Amino acid sequence: MIYDAIVLGAGAAGLFCAARAGQRGKRVLVLERASVPGRKILISGGGRCNFTNLNAGGAKGAERFISANPHFAKSALSRYGPRDFVALVERYGIAYHEKTLGQLFCDGSAKAIVEMLLAECEKAQVAGGSVDILYDQQIERVTREDGGFLVESDAGHHAGRALVIATGGPSIPKMGASGFAYGLARQFGLKVVEPRPALVPFTLGGEDILFRELSGVSADIDAWSGKVRFREAALFTHRGLSGPAMLQISSYWRSGEAVAVDFLPDRPRGWLIEAKQDNPRVGMKAILREALPERLAAILAERLGIERELGNVPDKVLRAAEERLARWEFRPNGTEGFAKAEVTAGGIATAELSSQTMEAKRVPGLYAIGEAVDVTGWLGGYNFQWAWASAAAAAEAL
Ligand code: FDA
Repeated sequence: MIYDAIVLGAGAAGLFCAARAGQRGKRVLVLERASVPGRKILISGGGRCNFTNLNAGGAKGAERFISANPHFAKSALSRYGPRDFVALVERYGIAYHEKTLGQLFCDGSAKAIVEMLLAECEKAQVAGGSVDILYDQQIERVTREDGGFLVESDAGHHAGRALVIATGGPSIPKMGASGFAYGLARQFGLKVVEPRPALVPFTLGGEDILFRELSGVSADIDAWSGKVRFREAALFTHRGLSGPAMLQISSYWRSGEAVAVDFLPDRPRGWLIEAKQDNPRVGMKAILREALPERLAAILAERLGIERELGNVPDKVLRAAEERLARWEFRPNGTEGFAKAEVTAGGIATAELSSQTMEAKRVPGLYAIGEAVDVTGWLGGYNFQWAWASAAAAAEAL
């Protein structure tokens, strides 16, 4: 049998694409290397799957995605937005809640999302289509044949008029993630933007090593690297820096760059001199403890080298301390790499793909969707929204 489309990967993007194409009457085959579907969905959002973000839609939402072409994601996100996926979740009666900043999580287990996607695949039959899913597939060769594609796996040969690469990126290799998508794209002459770990904790060394003593301490701060700035929690770990603010920054960070932190973003200019005037006998550590966790306050006071009561410290020194607290520079010596990265930045170059359909411009019938593509979302449901939106765009065109 010649399928209308063969989808490689039964993850978020692959399952959704197969379901939508099947519901348009297409005969779809999904080939998955693992023995179960949607493994990353199951572990996502601490097991509750942060399945979308209310701010991820349209042109405005596209600003929260990183790509060599910042406009690429706009079309797909405008045509299939967070509200569309929420409507689907509601049709299945899956209870959810907004945690913070537009992030929608299941009330119960992420399993409900995988079950919903599989149920959507089954609905293909109603429309005269079909979705077959084969697990434990080792794909050995993919070739172009008679204007379509031949996929050879250890279990057999499969022919399809179109081929959809939905095998994700190499983050979390111990779950079987790999750069398979990139090898396949290159085989067909498509360029790949160098993949790098994103949404990943930083490691600290050198002078910053002292901060590793704060393992487990977190604080609401402002963090930035270059032009992007995030107001969220930062967490000190035994290896360096994590927490939402740092994970977000990591997606933009390049080796050697500094990560700046404002430890007291709500304090107005001159607050330290005012604090001295209000209470000259107060010490640096005590004044920092009013807004920050005790261990963090202690280490910052020590690094600022102000041990006397504020009344005995010249205003000039306090002004410099205030500036340093508002722009404390960490110099990460690296990140925890793909082993701990929630996603992969970079991937199949958007310049190779149509932003309307995700089809390769130079290889008719070849599509790439989801994390395999050089589009990476912010933390908080953006990456799943990209998986749904890019899958929907491809499914329309198959
Ligand atoms: P995905 O990785 O989901 O699927 C790829 C599929 O292809 C997998 O089933 C894989 O086994 C299969 N495959 C790989 N190689 C293959 C091969 N050679 N042959 C056949 N099949 C192959 N995002 C978000 O928006 N909200 C969240 O809450 C989270 N939470 C989260 C937690 C953790 C721990 C991680 C690691 C990641 C997240 N993410 C997230 C990111 C999110 O999981 C990710 O962006 C999507 O799963 C990407 O969907 P894809 O379908 O592109 O890849």
